[in-house]
Amino acid sequence: MTAPASFWLGTSWKMTKTLGEAEAYADDLRAAVEAGSVPPELRLFVLPAATSLATVRDRLDGTGVALGAQNAHPGPDGAVTGEVSMSMVRDAGASLVEIGHAERRTLLGETDDMVADKVAAAVSTGLTPLVCVGETAAERTHGETSDVLASQVRAALSRLGGSRPSELLVAYEPHWAIGSEGRPARPADVAEGLAVVRRALDEDLAGTPTSVLYGGSVHAGNAADLMTGLDVDGLFVGRAAWTAPGLLDLAHRCADALRQRRRRQPTPDLVSAIVRKDPR
Ligand code: 13P
Repeated sequence: MTAPASFWLGTSWKMTKTLGEAEAYADDLRAAVEAGSVPPELRLFVLPAATSLATVRDRLDGTGVALGAQNAHPGPDGAVTGEVSMSMVRDAGASLVEIGHAERRTLLGETDDMVADKVAAAVSTGLTPLVCVGETAAERTHGETSDVLASQVRAALSRLGGSRPSELLVAYEPHWAIGSEGRPARPADVAEGLAVVRRALDEDLAGTPTSVLYGGSVHAGNAADLMTGLDVDGLFVGRAAWTAPGLLDLAHRCADALRQRRRRQPTPDLVSAIVRKDPR
């Protein structure tokens, strides 16, 4: 697994926003990008509802903000009432597709099997999967977090056959930390979950650029803490980024935290200078 250089920050709008609201958000974001007020070290992404994907694509064209779908069906286009296919969301502007979000697993019965099919379909359609994994509160209480996360990661990758995504995003999102009923996770809990996800990925994905994100009640007050001490490649936000100013505020906080993180990490030059001085 190869770690990416930049930091992902993005939001799923979930089941919110009329077309007019989606356009207004996209216009605000576009204006911020054009004004140079989006930190360049961040890779922003937005996952609108399927109804506004194409409109948001048009409004954000050329800004570098990545767009994604919140879900897509794994099968080819055809008679599946109420669904949209991977190729349809790609056509509407998605380069990412979210798969296996906690709300889909718990409210809509999305299983590891379905996740596996969707990941394989996304990869064969040229979309970057954004796979969500996370334990429920009960699984955590019963000490099953590591097993659940590792098995969700392995299941998600299990139908790829010989093919590999050109890039992969995995978000650790503990179910109990998500949404207005959620309880924000402590950085120590997040660190443990991220480590399990990375270990499970390492077994399968040598050479694939893979980012491990965290999501669940991320907001302006905890974003920096979640980043500075943790081995995390991005933050995946719901409510706190449902307005463009919310996303942009988080972007500045993340950029500051990234700078601090980099100051704390020795650069490769510094490491080799130390090794040359003290070659034990
Ligand atoms: P909240 O930030 O609203 O808890 O949602 C997080 C999430 O589900 C991102 O996928």
